[in-house]
Amino acid sequence: MSNVKILVLYYSMFGHVETLARTAAEAINAVDGAEAVLKRVPEHIPDDVLQSFGAKTSQTAPVADPGELAEYDGFLFGTPTRFGNMAGQMRNFFDQTGTLWAEGKLVGKPAGVFVSTGTGSGNETTVLSMVPTLVHHGMVFVGLPYSAPELTDISEVRGGSCYGAGTIAAGDGSRQPSEKELNLMRFQAKHLTDVARKLKG
Ligand SMILES: Cc1cc2nc3c(=O)[nH]c(=O)nc-3n(C[C@H](O)[C@H](O)[C@H](O)COP(=O)(O)O)c2cc1C
Repeated sequence: MSNVKILVLYYSMFGHVETLARTAAEAINAVDGAEAVLKRVPEHIPDDVLQSFGAKTSQTAPVADPGELAEYDGFLFGTPTRFGNMAGQMRNFFDQTGTLWAEGKLVGKPAGVFVSTGTGSGNETTVLSMVPTLVHHGMVFVGLPYSAPELTDISEVRGGSCYGAGTIAAGDGSRQPSEKELNLMRFQAKHLTDVARKLKG
């Protein structure tokens, strides 16, 4: 089967989505013939405002350029919930992909979404808020199948759904992604990679 290059592209203010993104990239790199590239979308909030929020400003993943999406065979997009939607930083990034859309550069490429919410209000809608954009680009939306064992396990607080992996950060951001949430992220990343290889092959 073909080798595939998958972009894990995320925005994270406090580090929860960043942790999921790094976990996804590791899981992709563990698949034979697959390579993950981990990048962030640009920040738009001034540094002093971010500092006053207590944001994690030390993230080392390089910042992506919208035009580079054409280079990849598949995508995982990670975003925190903003009032049940994707973050504006992710929205703004996609709003710079009109040329890619006009040229059909992303048509037929698989894409999945993962999220972080504070209370869980947005765990599913945030993923779904990205689907129209992906579909307009002709991308193939790939969820998180119920063959993932943790998806039917409701024995503890857990983010993630069949639409995509996720974590629940708590109102004050004090909760970190649990092992079950990270396993769901790994499962989704491997699944997306498998689909990308089949589509490319
Ligand atoms: C403007 C704003 C709106 C938010 N809206 C929601 C929301 O609708 N539901 C929710 O559960 N959390 C909401 N949150 C909490 C964030 O989703 C939470 O801080 C985020 O998931 C943490 O991820 P991060 O560490 O990667 O930034 C909101 C936060 C901000 C700043």
